[in-house]
Amino acid sequence: VCWRQIHRCMSQGSSRGGSPGKGGPKRKVAVLGAAGGIGQPLGLLMKLSPLVTDLALFDIAGTPGVACDLSHVNTQAKVEGFAGDGELGKALTGCDLVIIPAGVPRKPGMTRDDLFKINAGIVKNLCKAIAEHCPKALVNIISNPVNSTVPIAAEVFKQAGTYDKAKLFGVTTLDVVRARTFYAAKKGIPVEGVDLPVVGGHAGITILPLFSQATPKMDMTEKEIDTLTKRTQDGGTEVVQAKAGKGSATLSMAYAGALFAEACLKGLNGQKNVIECSYVESTITDIPFFSSKVRLGPKGIAEVLGLGKLTAYEKKALDAMAKELKASIRNGIEFVKK
Ligand code: NAD
Ligand code: LMR
Repeated sequence: VCWRQIHRCMSQGSSRGGSPGKGGPKRKVAVLGAAGGIGQPLGLLMKLSPLVTDLALFDIAGTPGVACDLSHVNTQAKVEGFAGDGELGKALTGCDLVIIPAGVPRKPGMTRDDLFKINAGIVKNLCKAIAEHCPKALVNIISNPVNSTVPIAAEVFKQAGTYDKAKLFGVTTLDVVRARTFYAAKKGIPVEGVDLPVVGGHAGITILPLFSQATPKMDMTEKEIDTLTKRTQDGGTEVVQAKAGKGSATLSMAYAGALFAEACLKGLNGQKNVIECSYVESTITDIPFFSSKVRLGPKGIAEVLGLGKLTAYEKKALDAMAKELKASIRNGIEFVKK
């Protein structure tokens, strides 16, 4: 099942739009933070996914309206809205996949780390509820700073006795989406056929696109690689500045979040060779959480794939990120421990 089929299903009009997922397994997906800038378009994309049969939209407020609105879309997923902590348990019960874009976004001049103070507590509490109500669900964390919120989630699950490293993901797909777009534009090739891994973490210099592994392979000068690497690392800031105080990436993030969620569902459903980059517990470097290609399967991560052959430029960038990434991970773990 791919997005092209969804577009086809949408363009078929009202009578047949709800049928593409018929016969597939039942899959309940929850979006926590569903009334927000990312949550609303992500909810729409999940409603369009033929892989989703039940969609739970949770936020502190506003979700009954969003759910009512989305429920009129003629696709199969049954949509329900849940508002406030009292309804969180109901939203989570029976979930196969929980996506978390809850929390505050950046304003110009802020780093993602500046969001830690508020978002760390939000992610911690939501993960406590996940441990209680759907401990076996896959969890996709979008809330920033991802470099810390994923270790926070891991620590909460460890304390609850439910941690499964194969089921926890930091969503870094937007970095891949950006790198693909910038590479294709620079080289003047169709973006649809472009792929490349982005490794490391999800903030500034911890974001490392591996242009040497891009397909199709195109010649790039050192200057081009450096410019595109920096543009990918600063992609989030580019949007924050363009939105001038009205938040950060929401639409491109919803698209990226939906791509990643669909990949997780395909893996759960037994589809072979589903590979995406994600920030996960990892041993491929000495950094305990790290984004790299992972193969998705029926139990979450089937395999964390290695880095492949790196150029001197990429090796240097990897060394340069280690200190910052390790510190962000430590901050997350200490936040839960204390
Ligand atoms: P937003 O403010 O528009 O929406 C956030 C939503 O979260 C709001 O509706 C809010 O009510 C809700 N919320 C707050 N506390 C909650 C709680 N305890 N339970 C449930 N919902 C709660 O923000 P946004 O633009 O949607 O961004 C959300 C987060 O995603 C930010 O932290 C942002 O930095 C991050 N983000 C990550 C990526 C990525 O690549 N991983 C990309 C873009 C944005
Ligand atoms: C992004 O990469 O767009 C997000 O992490 C949001 C941000 O603050 O940059």
